[in-house]
Amino acid sequence: MGGGRGCLIAFEGADGVGKTTQVSRLADWLQQKGRSAKVVREPGGTPVGEAIRHVLLRPEHVMAPLTETLLFVAARHEVVERVLRPALAQGSVVLADRFTLSTVAYQHFGAGVPREQVEALNQWATGGLTPDLTILLLAEQARRLNQDRMEQRADSFHDRVREGYLTLSREHWEHTGPEGRCRLVVLAREGDADHVAAAVLDAVRPLLDGEGGRRA
Ligand code: TYD
Repeated sequence: MGGGRGCLIAFEGADGVGKTTQVSRLADWLQQKGRSAKVVREPGGTPVGEAIRHVLLRPEHVMAPLTETLLFVAARHEVVERVLRPALAQGSVVLADRFTLSTVAYQHFGAGVPREQVEALNQWATGGLTPDLTILLLAEQARRLNQDRMEQRADSFHDRVREGYLTLSREHWEHTGPEGRCRLVVLAREGDADHVAAAVLDAVRPLLDGEGGRRA
């Protein structure tokens, strides 16, 4: 598994579900296999994106849901143009710790911004760049430890986000169907991180071994 075509793998799920651990485990595995792996987190991943992250996550920054949405997608556009597209063009495997589904789950299902607005902004920000694979981690209860502005929201907000991710997982399954190209893999966070990591590898291997890399 030396060079190969670039591909984009997004990790999604509610706060505290263990995405970041899985992203770094997969990055280590890829590096051991000699594949160049690039990890980005959202919001962030660029100097402007990190500045936007600061604005978004400071607890004292009160803002309207649409303002929040626009800031998340602005940070996304920056990372897509400056980091993701160049890395993919060089044949890297890019691991995104959150991507477009986060905005649907948090700003639409959680904060009530109309879905068509969120989808249109996502499309605008990414220029149509979609992940080759999205790994959605689901958990009954997730721990929220950081207490940033998003994490401080009411339990009811986080319940809506979790339910939103469940809805998205069902929609994607209906869209792709059992025979269709599976772009979304849903993993229940059962057992320890080792079990989840093994399931992540099972989902990722066909993409890296086969013809799953992106065409452009
Ligand atoms: P972060 O500390 O990265 O959380 P996590 O480790 O759970 O990913 O903070 C990012 C927060 O921003 C998190 O609560 C999810 C939220 N978020 C949105 O609300 N919309 C988005 O589009 C993105 C990318 C993140």
